[in-house]
Amino acid sequence: MTRPQAPIRRIGILTGGGDCPGLNAVIRAVAKTAIYQHGIEVVGIRDGFVGLIENNVVPLDAAAVSGILTRGGTILGTNNKCNPRRHMVGRDVHGEPMFADVTGQIRENIRDNRLDAIIVIGGDGTMSAAATLLSDEINLIGVPKTIDNDIVGTEITFGFLTAVATATEALDRLQTTADSHHRVMVCEVMGRNAGWIALTSGVASGSDVILMPEIPFDMDEIAVFIEARMVRPGFAIVVVAEGALPKGGAQVVARHDPTSADPIRLGGIGQAVAEAIARRLDVETRTTVLGHVQRGGSPIAADRILATHFGHHAIQTLMSGKTNRMVVRQNHIFDDVDIAFAANRQRLVPVDHPLITAARALRTCFGDRPPVHASGARPAVVV
Ligand code: F6P
Repeated sequence: MTRPQAPIRRIGILTGGGDCPGLNAVIRAVAKTAIYQHGIEVVGIRDGFVGLIENNVVPLDAAAVSGILTRGGTILGTNNKCNPRRHMVGRDVHGEPMFADVTGQIRENIRDNRLDAIIVIGGDGTMSAAATLLSDEINLIGVPKTIDNDIVGTEITFGFLTAVATATEALDRLQTTADSHHRVMVCEVMGRNAGWIALTSGVASGSDVILMPEIPFDMDEIAVFIEARMVRPGFAIVVVAEGALPKGGAQVVARHDPTSADPIRLGGIGQAVAEAIARRLDVETRTTVLGHVQRGGSPIAADRILATHFGHHAIQTLMSGKTNRMVVRQNHIFDDVDIAFAANRQRLVPVDHPLITAARALRTCFGDRPPVHASGARPAVVV
């Protein structure tokens, strides 16, 4: 929505959700564009929405954001537990968590800090939290962040390509040890509901089996496929998204935190798959869980560039008079959508995605029954 342009004099920047390579690059692009191009005063909000609840705000001048382009993490701190409508405010006498709606407190602190807009950098959880605050008084401009690449409305999120590069390097390294020891190496990567990291790093590394949440797997299909691979070349690499699940089964939950707005943490499917393979076949298996290694460290060049575009576009969107938008990229063009559009939804990998089609043609196993060829023949497992 576009409204008559109220002067934008002072803005806040907030990073929410899990950390992600490129967060600092966005902060820098937002702050420098705002300061240099528009003479806007910029403040940083500490630890995501928690900083707005506790009124923890720091000045961000050009010097404060200088030299951070290549740094991983976020100089502002972040938090992936906060839901403003149900924020944990303490524990009762029995040790049970107590929750309160703190949206009023947040609005008050936004007013006290004289913020004309807030640039909210985060994933679907952060966009959902932002959506709960929407009102005529507040202008929130979202920037889509997540290594999972699963935000609705944008074809890519910053951080994803760095995570894929990290996972691909790990899979390449696992291949040499798999080869030497004639083992099946299973690598669990992140990706809660969407298998973008598993698919992309799996194809980039030439992994034999790619398991992702969008294609529930069948252990028997995997076993037949791997048995053939163990004859020649004599080893196999399996990449599994943490959210992958067997047909008719459930995701593996590592822990549950009822105090969090994001209570479920997945993990363990890699080990379960490795054990199931070892039970079915007379092979040695090993499991590697990449975990937060995929989220840490310096962003690769492509993510620094994407983050810079997103940060710059966020200020352009704001200065064009638009309100409550999330910047996106579609067909390589930077654009914006309603910020609430991305709330509580995920962009999954379509099962007919061209990369899946290409990988299947190269005989990559997705843990399901291989589709029938145009000729009518089901591809044989070739040794
Ligand atoms: O949403 C990004 C993500 O990296 C998921 O893939 C993963 O399940 C989750 O964050 C882990 O979050 P935490 O930092 O709370 O362990």
